[in-house]
Amino acid sequence: MKIIVTGGAGFIGANFMNQMVPAFPEHQFVNLDKLTYAANLGSLRGIDTLPNYALRRADITDMDAVDAVFEEFDPDLVVHFAAESHVDRSILGPREFVRTNIEGTFNLLEACRKRWSGDDNRLFQHVSTDEVYGSLGDTGLFEESTAYDPSSPYSASKAASDHIVRAYHRTYGLPIKITNCSNNYGPMQFPEKLVPLMILNAVERKPLPIYGAGLNVRDWLYVQDHCEAIWTVIEKGQVGRTYNIGGNNEMQNIKVVDTLCEIVAEETGTDPGEILALKHFVTDRPGHDLRYAVDATRIREECGWEPKETFDTGIRKTVQWYLSNQDWVGSVRSGEYLKWIDLNYGDRTG
Ligand code: NAD
Ligand code: DAU
Repeated sequence: MKIIVTGGAGFIGANFMNQMVPAFPEHQFVNLDKLTYAANLGSLRGIDTLPNYALRRADITDMDAVDAVFEEFDPDLVVHFAAESHVDRSILGPREFVRTNIEGTFNLLEACRKRWSGDDNRLFQHVSTDEVYGSLGDTGLFEESTAYDPSSPYSASKAASDHIVRAYHRTYGLPIKITNCSNNYGPMQFPEKLVPLMILNAVERKPLPIYGAGLNVRDWLYVQDHCEAIWTVIEKGQVGRTYNIGGNNEMQNIKVVDTLCEIVAEETGTDPGEILALKHFVTDRPGHDLRYAVDATRIREECGWEPKETFDTGIRKTVQWYLSNQDWVGSVRSGEYLKWIDLNYGDRTG
């Protein structure tokens, strides 16, 4: 297969590439990525020289740039990760989210519709989020039939992208599948998200900002389990169908932060009290969803997928990864990385 992976230099996309490119030498993988602040080519070191990997720097909001990559590679499969992904950024600047997540997804669908005749074995695999369902109260789970009720500009833009993907299936018969996943954590996540931010701040003895009272609940999934789930849906899921993906690991934010403090203390030989004392309650996020929890029965029963990592095993691996990958951390935090991208890829689309 020829596979275009959008956003393959971001957190989940890079983990996906690291797993799949070496595992499937018979498939050609093309990473179509704009290389925004959230991308890091250092996350692809080791696989970027393999013969079945290629990078094309392109912006999915630019139809001509998308068309050029599709003309060159004629993909059998598109795995669509590229997005603006951070809720707080969407509150400060929603426009980029509407453009990339809605218009960008639309451009990719158009690129497929123009080229795919409908009789062949192609697939548009859309990677989405459980945030489209809005917030749960103290009980209940998100099911695939739960009505969409997004709260933030980010989740609203992802909801819109899901709708347009589904509409292309119903209207044009485009072969699509959608996955809606809960919160990921693991290696190579940009340190604006809760888990890596807390690890790095704890190591540097900086305050650990907890929104509100820290009582919001997320359902945590190790990123490599998410990547395997997506591949499983590609192989075994039904065309036109949606699959929820979750870790069955519901936890209040305060518990996540306490656990991270304790593991960082243990791994660095520090007094846990010193790190726990960095916790700092700050003004809540506007429109902050209280609780996410996913019912992943469908993917388990129809595709046979279940997560391999528990929160305990995955979170320790994650802390260890950040502690032993100081080069990656340094490049992401210094601004040097963005300068390097401009120097090397500044005016190139291919
Ligand atoms: P990320 O922010 O780490 O990476 C996004 C990637 O997309 C980056 O490489 C970036 O350069 C690229 N990109 C952004 N705008 C682009 C554009 N206009 N054109 C081309 N490339 C562009 O995101 P992530 O956390 O890896 O999330 C990947 C996908 O998974 C997103 O669609 C997100 O909604 C979804 N998702 C994320 C989570 C999570 O917990 N992180 C959970 C469920 C679903
Ligand atoms: O549920 C899936 C979603 O998970 C994905 O679609 C998003 O792309 C991804 O960013 C994530 O969204 P969240 O908003 O849940 O993730 P974030 O890491 O920003 O925050 C997790 C929880 O921690 C949330 O309740 C807000 C809180 N938080 C976050 C930060 C950054 C804090 O208390 N302090 C912080 O500094």
